This record gives sequence, C-alpha cells and structure tokens, in this order.
Amino acid sequence: MLLQKPFIVLSIVTWVAAGPMVVHESRTAAPAGFVRRGVAPANSMLTLRVALFSNNVSGLEDKLMSLSTPGSSDFRQWLSMDEVKSFVQPSPETVAAFDAFASANGLKPTVISPNGDWVSVTLPVSQANKLFAAQYEIFAHPALTNTITRTLSVSLPAELVGHVDVLHPTTQFLPPRSRLVPTTPGIDLDERTPSSCNSSEPTGVITPNCLQDLYGIPTTPATEKDNVLLVTGYENQFAQNADLAQFLKLFRPDIPSTTTFAVLTTDNGTNPQGPDEAGIEADGDVELTVGIATGVPVQFLSVGGAVSDSDLSMSLVATTTFLDGVRNPPSVMTTSYGDIEVNFGTSMAIKICSGYMALGARGISVVFASGDGGVRGGHDDLSLCNVTDFRPVFPADCPFVTSVGSTQGFGPEIASNFSSGGFSNIFPAPRYQSAAIEAFVKTIPANFEGSFNKTGRGYPDVSTQGWNFDTVFAGETIVVGGTSASSPTFASIIALINDRLLAAGKSTLGFLNPFLYSSGSSGFTDITIGHNAGFTCPASSVAFDAAVGWDPLSGVGTPIFSKLLAAAMDY
Ligand SMILES: *[C@@H]1O[C@H](CO)[C@@H](O)[C@H](O)[C@H]1NC(C)=O
Ligand SMILES: *[C@@H]1O[C@H](CO)[C@@H](O)[C@H](O)[C@H]1NC(C)=O
Ligand SMILES: *[C@@H]1O[C@H](CO)[C@@H](O)[C@H](O)[C@H]1NC(C)=O
Ligand SMILES: *[C@@H]1O[C@H](CO)[C@@H](O)[C@H](O)[C@H]1NC(C)=O
Ligand SMILES: *[C@@H]1O[C@H](CO)[C@@H](O)[C@H](O)[C@H]1NC(C)=O
Ligand SMILES: *[C@@H]1O[C@H](CO)[C@@H](O)[C@H](O)[C@H]1NC(C)=O
Repeated sequence: MLLQKPFIVLSIVTWVAAGPMVVHESRTAAPAGFVRRGVAPANSMLTLRVALFSNNVSGLEDKLMSLSTPGSSDFRQWLSMDEVKSFVQPSPETVAAFDAFASANGLKPTVISPNGDWVSVTLPVSQANKLFAAQYEIFAHPALTNTITRTLSVSLPAELVGHVDVLHPTTQFLPPRSRLVPTTPGIDLDERTPSSCNSSEPTGVITPNCLQDLYGIPTTPATEKDNVLLVTGYENQFAQNADLAQFLKLFRPDIPSTTTFAVLTTDNGTNPQGPDEAGIEADGDVELTVGIATGVPVQFLSVGGAVSDSDLSMSLVATTTFLDGVRNPPSVMTTSYGDIEVNFGTSMAIKICSGYMALGARGISVVFASGDGGVRGGHDDLSLCNVTDFRPVFPADCPFVTSVGSTQGFGPEIASNFSSGGFSNIFPAPRYQSAAIEAFVKTIPANFEGSFNKTGRGYPDVSTQGWNFDTVFAGETIVVGGTSASSPTFASIIALINDRLLAAGKSTLGFLNPFLYSSGSSGFTDITIGHNAGFTCPASSVAFDAAVGWDPLSGVGTPIFSKLLAAAMDY
C-alpha cells in the first residue's frame, strides 16, 4: 500500500473524529439457527478483509457481454489476466483514500489479491467497533464447530464511501452445509455392472454410461492437454484417490483406473487421504468429472480458510482471487456449494458475482449447482413448506454463472422436486434472459400464491439428471442425489465440447449464458414437467411448475451433446 505523508495523516484523524458515518450494510437479526453468545471481547483481534471498489466493473460487464454474445465482432476473444486486471484493480484515488484512513488509524493493510481489490487488516474488536460503528458479537450455530464473530450493522466514515465495497466478517451469516444428499446410503453395490439409462430397470441408478447414452456424451478421450476442468472444494471436503480408482473400475472399465486429478490448494488448503478424510461432495464431484469428461485434465482446488471467522463467502472469494493470479486458467469450473442469497449480504454477493464476471471474461465457464431446496432455498427444510416468500440461492443466481438444476427419469425426463430455482432479489434480469423470463411469467396462473421478485435474474440456466447417482465414498458404493451431481455432469459436457473446439482451432466457450439463451438453445431438450416444492414438502406446497421454454426448475433443458457441439462450432 502507498505510504501517506504525515500531514495527511493528521488531517484525516481530525476528519474521522468529526465525520459522519454512513450505514454500509445491516440486518435486523441473525438468520434462524444462529445464537448470540455475548459481545466480542474488546481486546480480541479481528482480521478484516476489505474489498476496495474496482475501477471499471461496468466496463468489464459491457466487454464480457460483447465477448460472449454470438454475432459480435470480438465473440470469444477472451481477455488476458492483465487485461482483466485493468478493469478490476481499484483506482489510485481509492487506494489512496483507504491508505490514508488506515495510516491515520495505525492500521497496516496487506494486499491479498493479485488485482489489488482485496486487502486485509488486523485490529482489536474495540477499534473495529469504533471505526465502523459496529457492535461485534459472538454467534454460535449447531452446525459450526467454532463460534463466529459478526456484527448486525457496519458503517463507513464518509471518506471511505465509494472506495470500500465489502467488509468481512461483518453481516455475513453462512451456516456450513455441503450438498450431495445420500438417497440410499450404505447399499453394497460392489457386484454391480455399469448400467445404462433404461426406465425398465427397477433401480434406475445413474452411472457415467447412462449419461453417455442419454445425452450422447462421447467416450472418445479428449486430446487437448491445456483444457482443464476445475472442481472446487470447500469446508474441509477432501477428494480421495482410492475412491476415484474404485469408481472408475466399477463404472468406467473402458478407461484406466489410474486416471486421476491434480490437487491445487489456496488459503492453506490440504487434501489428506484415507477413508476418514473422505468428503462426500469432493468425492462425488471428482468421480463424476473424471468419469464423464473422458481424458480431460481435472484439477481439484482445495480452499482452506484457516482464519476461524472465515466462511463460504470468503472461500468463494479465495477461489476467484486465486484464479485471478493463474496465467493459464482452467476453461471450466464447477462448484456444488451455495446458500440463500440473503445470508451473504448484498455487497458481498455483488462482489463475489463480479469475481465470476472477471473469470468469464478470461474464458472460464463458471458452473454452479442451483441448490437442493426447491423454491425455498439451498437446502431442504421441512419447516418452510408453507412459506410463500421464495428464497433464491447464491451464487447460483449470479448472472455471470451458469447454474444447473436437476432432472430425473428417462421417459420423459422431469424436473426434480428439490431442484432450486427462482429469481434473485439482488441481481436484475440480464438482457440475455429477459425474453425467456417474460415468456415463463405468462405461464404462471393469476391466483399463484408464491411471492418472488419479477425483475430478478432467473435461475437455473440448464439442467441434467441429478438423482440416484452411483458414487464411491470412503470405500463404499453409495447412491446420492442433488444438483451437486448435475453441476459436474454439465461442466464435464462443456469441457468435452471445449476439447473439440480447441482441436478444431477454435476458441473455448467461456461465459456461456448469452449463447445458451440464443443459438445454443438448439442443443437442449426442453423439460416441461415438474414442480419444485422441495424434497420433503408435499407436492401441494406452492412452487413453480416446469413449462414449455425456459423455466426456473430446469432452465432451457437438458443437453444433447451433438447439437450443442454443432451450435458451439457454428460461428
Ligand atoms: C471502462 O471500460 C470501457 C470498456 O468496456 C471503456 O470504454 C471505458 O473507457 C472504461 N472507463 C474507464 C473510466 O476506464
Ligand atoms: C431395459 O431393461 C429391460 C429389463 O432389464 C430389458 O429387457 C431391455 O432390453 C432393456 N432395454 C434397453 C434398451 O437396454
Ligand atoms: C496459512 O498458515 C500460516 C501459518 O500457519 C498463517 O500464518 C497464514 O495466516 C495462513 N493463511 C491463511 C490464508 O489462512
Ligand atoms: C402447512 O399448512 C398445512 C395446511 O394448513 C398444515 O396442515 C401443515 O401442518 C403446515 N405445515 C407446516 C410445516 O407448518
Ligand atoms: C427485486 O430485485 C431488484 C433487482 O432486480 C432489486 O433492486 C429489488 O430490491 C428487489 N426487491 C426486493 C423486494 O427484494
Ligand atoms: C421428491 O422426489 C424424490 C425423488 O423422486 C422422492 O423420493 C420424494 O418422495 C419426493 N418428495 C415428495 C414430498 O413427494
């Protein structure tokens, strides 16, 4: 950070003391499940992560829309790391304003991201309370092993308004939960042979072979060595080599069972091996990508987050800032995590979403599971069945990610009841989606009791099978389900299409959505049946119904590999 001259320091001290405070983010209460454990000790140390406003997010957005919209002159001419940095880095005025504030208050900021948009400062709770008109408290949650330090309100001194974008930890409340829901755990399927999608088979269990049949996914190995598919891993979910080898032996006997994935780490992440270390989400995501994207190099990014006040929001930030510093990034990234949008807070959700915008501009297809709680959130919760106010899921509803819902059955495929979808309360509907949303809203009956934001970004964008997937977890073959299975399936298909595009001397798909809602829509089977009331809520609970065209359960539908490839090649 820049050093400030002493006279500036003195003038700022006076200003801080006299200056007005502007409320930056606040909430009336912590979300259900969090319990107050008293005020945070005044002298305990807090590590604040601070996002400084990027200098030209709207310019980056315009550029990304041009790069990703079929027919534009710079279609798929993805930007370099340095080109993206020129939009994302804070302006010199913003850096100077924060440095002046920091030095006036004896703080020593460290830049923690390659684009300079995130800094970290460590200070006592008492000072944080004073500087940001906060009231830090300790909160517990039954699903958290540690307590967390949060405040229900955070303000900025006037001279930081327009310069400081996000402060963490402040009003973010994210309970930890991973996604893959075992449907029938513990069944011994060791004797099974790979099945194909056949509605006459009583179990209807999904394997890579089944998905290859259903969507026409090729088994011929990819040839492009730089076309990497990245799987993100959070919340100490570790991917197991032994489980992958067993999965391949059982379900892809046609490829070497030694086929594996590379491990990357950030924020002190690790990937220990052994049955006790197995993570059901990490295992499932790695098995599906390696098992479906035949021959595509798969990387597993294990994000640590040693700081006790970290949470999913900072893990998502750690992922984008890690990739901001990778010169040759993956071409596809799949993530099976998220939570209801409101738990992130507005500034954090927008900042994370802008991080995906930047990755999209570099040619990375950012793919997310849409969530497993139907219209009422990321996870299933019986107590919410009668709630008519729908709860959108983030990052699935960020307009710069491709979010993937779930289907099940083969004749025809129907949208799963747990497939999350709806409309954001933070992000307006992007232009690429406005016609699709308008057509869907017309299908909703006049007496519809559900309440949702009619101006919001609709999600998911696409869907694939997501129920009754065979996986190997801690040495056991189990059956799992959820949009966590759909996201790696769709990401694998995109990675295989990129392989064929690169082999033909063409550019990779990058940010997908403007293509998916225009010429790419010919590569999908429309899903027209389904009601996403949730996994446990009765079908009578108010929810959306699948419809002809895009709908907020199944998106534009499920992929048809040959048609999607043809549309991708045609420019
Ligand atoms: C922001 O980016 C756009 C390109 O999309 C450019 O035209 C504009 O000049 C940039 N604005 C600033 C202030 O750098
Ligand atoms: C589907 O399964 C049934 C019962 O196992 C079998 O008779 C039928 O031939 C299978 N069909 C296909 C297309 O594999
Ligand atoms: C990683 O671990 C080191 C040593 O324990 C610690 O100093 C550092 O703060 C950690 N970094 C993160 C991002 O957690
Ligand atoms: C939802 O409403 C129905 C009908 O009013 C009622 O029978 C049911 O107990 C309610 N469920 C919950 C979880 O509150
Ligand atoms: C609805 O979404 C828009 C963004 O599209 C947002 O500005 C507005 O605040 C949202 N309304 C509610 C009630 O959340
Ligand atoms: C939701 O779908 C799953 C999978 O088909 C099914 O097992 C479950 O019974 C359904 N839930 C309800 C409430 O119908």
